[in-house]
Amino acid sequence: SPWANEPKRHPVLKPAAETPFNAEPPLDILVQKFITPVEFFYVRNHLPVPVIDEKSYELEIEVEGSEKTLTLSLDELKKMPKYSVTAAIQCGGNRRSDMHAVKPVKGLSWGAAAIGNATWSGVRLRDVLKSMGVENDENKHVILEGHDLDPTAAPYAASIPLYKAMDERGDVLLAYEMNGKPLTRDHGYPVRAIVPGVVGSRNVKWLARVVVSDKESDSHWQQKDYKGFSPSTDWDTVDFSKSPAIQNLPVTSAICQPQPGEKVKVVDGFITARGYAWSGGGNKIVRVDITADGGKSWHVAELEQSDAHPGRHYSWTLWTIKIPVEEGKQEVEIWAKAVDSNYNCQPETFENTWNLRGVLSNAYHRVKVSLVR
Ligand code: MTE
Repeated sequence: SPWANEPKRHPVLKPAAETPFNAEPPLDILVQKFITPVEFFYVRNHLPVPVIDEKSYELEIEVEGSEKTLTLSLDELKKMPKYSVTAAIQCGGNRRSDMHAVKPVKGLSWGAAAIGNATWSGVRLRDVLKSMGVENDENKHVILEGHDLDPTAAPYAASIPLYKAMDERGDVLLAYEMNGKPLTRDHGYPVRAIVPGVVGSRNVKWLARVVVSDKESDSHWQQKDYKGFSPSTDWDTVDFSKSPAIQNLPVTSAICQPQPGEKVKVVDGFITARGYAWSGGGNKIVRVDITADGGKSWHVAELEQSDAHPGRHYSWTLWTIKIPVEEGKQEVEIWAKAVDSNYNCQPETFENTWNLRGVLSNAYHRVKVSLVR
């Protein structure tokens, strides 16, 4: 069986699918630590986890149309200047179940925990490409191929624009460590791409080959998946060639505590809520607004975040808020919306941002709870 060599996973990860393995942790675990522990970090695999021996591991780097190639062993990579970046990775389908609730969509039914925040270390892709004499070209792409193969022996692959890889503030890594330890098998051991601010699917794990190319990757995942469409586009009318592949993700947030249906204690007229917020493209979260009365009054949450600047703010933000609740109320619905450094904010509902793949699912997060006094 292709699934005979799957790694062991922490029981806290709730599988949305077992083969391939896809799982997220309970939401309330996410806000316990600013850096998500590796064993609680969501896993999104499309194929069986490849078995790789680090002693014989080699990363191939090619520049299409030139003789330039480079083969790097793990030891050789580790000898190059090491660089760390704290970045959240979020699946393009995070919060898909909320969109599905409005009208069915195709895809894994993710809750709001297909996101995690980790410190990644490795070599800058920019340094490697520059050492090969590659110069920026706005029209080129970097194709990233994994060691995991589909039944036709095609690898999982995706691509990013070359300008993202070459940008000093882009912080794209060939990472071999997560939170100070070697990558685990589920998260791409021994080397994965980290593309901060960009949808999870371009952060290719088990990296086998990197190619500078005139074209995007022709993989299914770049061309026929992870794209957004109008709410009126259906499976009869969809034309994947008409929509750009998702790169930077839009602003989002979620309430992690309390959880839906929880009985929440009112203390001196207030309840406490906590959650995360994040925006793609390095945009910084500048505010998280919370209401528990349908928007009659909004309360600004306290933020815990890194001191990175806008444009390079790749880590998530955790937030906490004490919200006043009306006396005598038995039940409230808490809503969260985040605002990023471009002053973009989340859409109010899913109805008008619905898309058939259930990606980019970032409307206000809403949690209904009952109150105890
Ligand atoms: N890379 C390879 N080689 N194979 C995959 O299936 N899944 C992608 C990306 N990189 C994938 C991959 C997707 S869709 C996401 S969201 C992230 O990896 C998930 O990373 P994680 O499992 O480390 O959380």
